Amino acid sequence: MNIDDIKLVGVMGGGVMGGGIAQSFIAAGFSAIVRDLNDDLIEKTRASMIDGRFGLKGAVDRGKMSQADYDATVARLSFTQDVGDLAACDLIIEAVPENLELKKTVFKELDAIVKKDAIFATNTSGFAISDVNKAVSRRDRFIGFHWFSPAFIMKPIEIIYAPETSQETIDTMVAITKKMGKAPILVKDAPGKYGFVGNRIYFAMVAEARKVLEEGIASAEDIDEVMKLGYNWPVGPLGMTRGARGGWQ
Ligand SMILES: NC(=O)c1ccc[n+]([C@@H]2O[C@H](COP(=O)([O-])OP(=O)(O)OC[C@H]3O[C@@H](n4cnc5c(N)ncnc54)[C@H](O)[C@@H]3O)[C@@H](O)[C@H]2O)c1
Repeated sequence: MNIDDIKLVGVMGGGVMGGGIAQSFIAAGFSAIVRDLNDDLIEKTRASMIDGRFGLKGAVDRGKMSQADYDATVARLSFTQDVGDLAACDLIIEAVPENLELKKTVFKELDAIVKKDAIFATNTSGFAISDVNKAVSRRDRFIGFHWFSPAFIMKPIEIIYAPETSQETIDTMVAITKKMGKAPILVKDAPGKYGFVGNRIYFAMVAEARKVLEEGIASAEDIDEVMKLGYNWPVGPLGMTRGARGGWQ
């Protein structure tokens, strides 16, 4: 599969990340179908993709997208509760909760029904790709595709390749990432370590900040203040964890 073959993208899990991921794909001209478990979850995701703080209507209001583009973009989006509706997808992005067994179960289910040459990608925050890919028969077409939150806004995507991942799969995912206006960063899978590049360094930094706090060296506010003023960070290491759902992992 190369980028010209990728027309329909399936997103497993329309939560915080899945919604923003699907939004990025439809805005870049791909069609997307999002699978979640019930009407309420689907409605919540649809509302966030359209009317939310980082939604498509906001892009129109800010003059970043024309009304005609908006109409065409929204027409490329669909939702389902039936996993069978993802069978014809060319690419699947998995964004279900961070639970290794759940991810493996989901991929096993997908492997049985989705067309054989489709690429599978996981948005795991840190599980080894060579572990998750054991759930599928197409290990050469399986890759890590780690976004940052909010997905529609943040630029980097870590593209994590395992020894089994084919060069063609890597090249296709790099091309897709660029087509979405994002920045692909190639990362080698590191079994036994959690977090690829971003989360591994981030978690180490937060752990050290917590130690400094526990040792009574400075208050939480002062620790954050040092890092903000001294290193020009937009937010300190302890303050950042308070806004975790919206801006890290
Ligand atoms: N939130 C972040 O900042 C962030 C950033 C990067 C990566 N991630 C990773 O992305 C993944 C998703 O995280 P999230 O924050 O979007 O979680 P979330 O809980 O907001 O969304 C997960 C969605 O998956 C759905 N789901 C559960 N089982 C499913 C199934 N079998 N089929 C289809 N949908 C199913 C849930 O109903 C839910 O809507 C996790 O692996 C997480 O570690 C999260």
